[in-house]
Amino acid sequence: MKPLIFLFILSFFSPILCRDGEPFDYLMFTTIYPTAVCRADDDSVPESCEIPDGTPQWTIHGLWPNFENGSYPQNCHGTPRHFDENLIKPIEESLVKVWPNLYPKKTIQSFWKHEYDKHGTCAQSEKLFESELAYFTEVMKVFDSIDVAKAMSSVGPSEKLIGAKDITTALDGLLGGKRFQFNCLRDKKTKQFLLGDIRLCLNKDLTLRDCPGHKDDHLNRPCPSEFIYLPAESSKKSTSFFGKVWNAVKNIG
Ligand SMILES: *[C@@H]1O[C@H](CO)[C@@H](O)[C@H](O)[C@H]1NC(C)=O
Repeated sequence: MKPLIFLFILSFFSPILCRDGEPFDYLMFTTIYPTAVCRADDDSVPESCEIPDGTPQWTIHGLWPNFENGSYPQNCHGTPRHFDENLIKPIEESLVKVWPNLYPKKTIQSFWKHEYDKHGTCAQSEKLFESELAYFTEVMKVFDSIDVAKAMSSVGPSEKLIGAKDITTALDGLLGGKRFQFNCLRDKKTKQFLLGDIRLCLNKDLTLRDCPGHKDDHLNRPCPSEFIYLPAESSKKSTSFFGKVWNAVKNIG
């Protein structure tokens, strides 16, 4: 082969061949309910979980490349391999709001770092996610375009027990009937099961698709048939018992 032609072919294919990340089948977007996360949290550490001021009812957990067979790639080769805060500066203000870290002992960026290092690096096999900034920007777009909080407002939050069917009905229009998943957390004090997150599945171009599973089975195994969609905590309040005691002591002292 003539060197020039070879170079031409190489330059044509190299952006595909050399892309970082790992091939995957689809994406799972998980949105969490911070009120439940903090309520279910272990009370052994004072003020361990806190919902920052101005946090929306539902927030981002992450966007994860997945395989159809149930496993997923993680900690892939990416550029950068490890989260670099400087690269997401242009959108950091918005990220702080909708993708908060609920643990004040950790840095605000620690959650983003975990998600990028473990999942974001793998997504770089797709052009849409080929940089760290692109990954975070696209996750925010998904969050903005799928308003779970609004769709869920027909179910609660309330003290009433709900079931899978209530969530399915609430999300039917938003998801066009696509299969989703959700998870419960357990309040260790009351032993109640709390709706903790909702997981949606997306094609690589971010259009909605069915999550794996059988029809009408939303893979809600950690949830019993009835559970609670907790009324939202007011912001900036420690939800742990020891945290409350600690605050009381601070206020007295
Ligand atoms: C799942 O599929 C991926 C990609 O095809 C493959 O690399 C992986 O080994 C499979 N894992 C299991 C547990 O079958």
